Amino acid sequence: MAKVKSKWVCQNCGYETVSYLGRCPECNQFGTFVEETTTVLSSKEVSKPSNIIQSDIKVSKINEILLDEKTRFKSNIDELDRVLGGGFVQGSLILLAGDPGIGKSTLVLQTTKHLCEIKLKGENLKVLYICAEESPLQVKLRAKRLEIEPDNLYLTNQTCIDEIINLVETINPDFLIVDSIQSVYCSSVMSGAGSVSQIRECTNLLMRLAKQKNITTIIIGHVTKEGNIAGPKVLEHMVDCVINFEGDKYKQYRILRCIKNRFGAISEVGVFKMEDNGLVEVNSPSQILMEQPEGATGSAVVATLEGSRIFLHEIQALVGSTNYSNPRRVAVGLEYNRLLQILAVLEKKVGINLSKQDVYVNVVGGIDIIEPSYDLALAIAIISSIRDISIPPTTIIIGEVGLLGEIRYVDNIERRLKEASKLGFKKAIIPKVNDKVYKKIKEFNIEIKQVSKLTDAIVQALKQE
Ligand code: TYD
Ligand code: MG
Repeated sequence: MAKVKSKWVCQNCGYETVSYLGRCPECNQFGTFVEETTTVLSSKEVSKPSNIIQSDIKVSKINEILLDEKTRFKSNIDELDRVLGGGFVQGSLILLAGDPGIGKSTLVLQTTKHLCEIKLKGENLKVLYICAEESPLQVKLRAKRLEIEPDNLYLTNQTCIDEIINLVETINPDFLIVDSIQSVYCSSVMSGAGSVSQIRECTNLLMRLAKQKNITTIIIGHVTKEGNIAGPKVLEHMVDCVINFEGDKYKQYRILRCIKNRFGAISEVGVFKMEDNGLVEVNSPSQILMEQPEGATGSAVVATLEGSRIFLHEIQALVGSTNYSNPRRVAVGLEYNRLLQILAVLEKKVGINLSKQDVYVNVVGGIDIIEPSYDLALAIAIISSIRDISIPPTTIIIGEVGLLGEIRYVDNIERRLKEASKLGFKKAIIPKVNDKVYKKIKEFNIEIKQVSKLTDAIVQALKQE
């Protein structure tokens, strides 16, 4: 007899307990626990349902496994192939995560255009697209508009994972797309579709299917800022590759960022622009995130390195007196704790009192910065707002700020400055560099100010020529 067990699961991080908790001890979120029930099958029952895919397990010696040339399939979308490390590895499981409406379905649909044209053993690849959130007719309409009508793209809006596995048995696709993991369910798990238990179990089944039948599988997962739908975070360890689709859905630009890849480098990014005819690749993205108005105070530009790409980001800060007992600190596009750290350094090492000031910071363009080279630009944007002095728009500021108020070196200064100089920047405030690097950067048509302390950097940045 199958037993029904109940547990409370945090929908943000997947932490499990036997009773309700107001606050999750793992991720510290409030009100995220939901009761989930699972059916535990008896040993006799386990062999019957949905586990047909377990039958052909075999053992091979590593040297006997043949690597054929077609182990990677290119989607012909360069920005996506680069992020994947050169295309989709056959039989891999990829999680494509992002906010609802960011363009995940559009991206996978566009990907199928070229995938269906790839020939494997004389036949075109077959793609099975589980459009669990939309009807096949809706997908067809979108595909028609995007001029994607391949012959061997199969659509279904089946949401039961056991049925999906049966469909895979009959159609035998080379690619399987599940859009989205939150809307499929497994009948042996009692909780509703989208819960942590459902998501885990469905991904588990898909992972086994992908590995045993060598089907390249793309799972789409929604992330919500509130974390009220079980986030794809709980799946990261199960899949081979996690790519995040980021950006502001009300703006045009999107960044595809690889955060886990068993078959390539993780730091690569791809850039897209959402247009009327779908996602368009952006091949030289360095300048797209800058909209700096001249003479404005509280704005500084930094050059960041994402994978092999340089991006110029404008950081904005607004500092004003507070009406609250606890002044507000708001960070959009960069890490909140990083902002607190910079404010602490400014208070202690530069002597600025921010205890009665609200601080808002924003990275223009809606795309997050992850690497720490923006610290100095952030500190200077905040000072620029406090003192109401603008920073010349042709000044680029690069450097990490340490807790002692020192400016720390960041990698690839040469490449960052070369790009900035190409885009017309005239002055660069950077950390101290060695002679070898200095020799290279002084060739660029850009005035270089090396600084070792935050106070020096502020003087250099606010100096009006
Ligand atoms: P979609 O791929 O459905 O997002 P997701 O699957 O991540 O939820 O994309 C939705 C948005 O993209 C929608 O707001 C409309 C916009 N869009 C365009 O601007 N142009 C297009 O050609 C397409 C297909 C979508
Ligand atoms: Mg979608």
